[in-house]
Amino acid sequence: MPDPFLTAFGDFARAEGQRDPTLSGPMFLLADALTRVVPAEMGPLASLPVVDKHLEASRQTGVGVPADLALQMADRTSWASPYPDYAGEPDMDAMRSAYAYTPIIGQAESAILLTAGSAPYLSDEVSAGLVLQGPGVVYPPHVHKAVEIYWVISGTADWQRGDEWSTHGPGATIFHDTGVRHATTTGDGPQLLLFAWVTDPGGVPVIVRF
Ligand SMILES: [Fe+2]
Repeated sequence: MPDPFLTAFGDFARAEGQRDPTLSGPMFLLADALTRVVPAEMGPLASLPVVDKHLEASRQTGVGVPADLALQMADRTSWASPYPDYAGEPDMDAMRSAYAYTPIIGQAESAILLTAGSAPYLSDEVSAGLVLQGPGVVYPPHVHKAVEIYWVISGTADWQRGDEWSTHGPGATIFHDTGVRHATTTGDGPQLLLFAWVTDPGGVPVIVRF
């Protein structure tokens, strides 16, 4: 029997590829890979203070298909802080204390996403998940090989791509091609995001210091 979440995610990916020609390649990769994603055994679900504080309200105000997808995952999300290797660096400690992600499609073995037992699905072609970024959080500039797409479910933030900043709110789609430097800063409120890496899912993001 088809998995309802994977079917809905695949339908959304195909629709996004048709809506925006710049997304047609990445969305083809995503929709195609989703046909090979497999369910995984999950361990105990974990949460974090920023999730306990902001997730419910962020979900309730979410818009579009990404909000529906997040809702479908409501009882299968296990949250973690990213970038454990950067613990002890003041800006990253500040970010990590109020930024959480949950893998939805993880890798069986991954250096960065720590998905063992925390992802309800596995793939070696793509990864996907939710991000909850608390208010006033600076996610510093970083790069990765993976081609990345974010969909804003709720909240508004300033986004940097290359040298350009722009502001995006609910319903926005943000595309980062391979290797492009990007950053995200929230204002007074949190933001809830759906993300997908459609290439190089096991890659490691690197914070850009200079
Ligand atoms: Fe990224």
